Amino acid sequence: MATVEGERVLVVGNAVLDVVLRVPHHPAEDEELRASGRRLAPGGNAANTAVALAALGRCPALLAVLAEDAEGTALAGMLARRGVDLAHAVRRPGATPVSYVLLSAATGARTIVHHRDLPELEATDLEAVPLEGFAWVHFEGRNVAALGAMLDHVRRRAPAVRVSLELEKPRPGLEALAGRADLVVAARAYAAARGWATPEAVLAALRARAPRALLVCAWGAAGAVWSAPGGAGGRVPAFRAGPVVDTLGAGDVLNAGLVHGLLAGLDPGEAVARAVRLAGRKCAREGLDGLGPDDWETP
Ligand code: FRU
Repeated sequence: MATVEGERVLVVGNAVLDVVLRVPHHPAEDEELRASGRRLAPGGNAANTAVALAALGRCPALLAVLAEDAEGTALAGMLARRGVDLAHAVRRPGATPVSYVLLSAATGARTIVHHRDLPELEATDLEAVPLEGFAWVHFEGRNVAALGAMLDHVRRRAPAVRVSLELEKPRPGLEALAGRADLVVAARAYAAARGWATPEAVLAALRARAPRALLVCAWGAAGAVWSAPGGAGGRVPAFRAGPVVDTLGAGDVLNAGLVHGLLAGLDPGEAVARAVRLAGRKCAREGLDGLGPDDWETP
């Protein structure tokens, strides 16, 4: 695999085992349904973003808690085989978080039932990572108790490192951290939970929190809207590479594309357009495997 030299990315957040069942449609309560396919894959927003960065040739490191159970070992193997560096990941007693995912063949939409019984990362886990080797740290927006301290640590210890923050699930105190990132990416699910009706409304609300950050709001089939601190901004239409077969992890792939593009020096509009295209290509295929530099380069 070709590797982009230097400019390494550290991705901080969750690693999950995804058990994905392909079903003809989402079942009703009490319905019995047969799946036409089943696959096990690494999941979790941070792990997915790291896998997508590896597919693009970035050699990312993942800081996540991996359980000390057999599934944790299997998950570590799956991530390592996909090019994710786990040198800084921490093993802890507990159970591997598992997502049971129903993927509808009718629509490509996914329903996720998640089980978790594993401690979250601690701020000291990040303090143990030598940041000198990294140009960018991307944070999944979870674990708010430690996240503020982790953002502060990166800012203090490595002021030149660029920092991004994903907002997907609303968590008390999370939004207040947006001002500490250079790039804030808000998912449509986040907007829905906050009662914001349009991506423009999302960006306006976040701008008050993060005056100096590049803001991006992804809006599914409606594409993405972005706003740069100097006032520039725009809307990028969604990219449809074919029938939608699997939207699982599309937002995490978009985040990877943004980090990859901005690190490569693209201007914000171009980085957002490429990231949206990459996420669109992901939706037209099942899983993240097979994504690669061609999906990034090909117009
Ligand atoms: C997709 C995903 C899945 C994971 C779930 C966790 O964005 O990260 O891979 O199982 O969300 O909420």
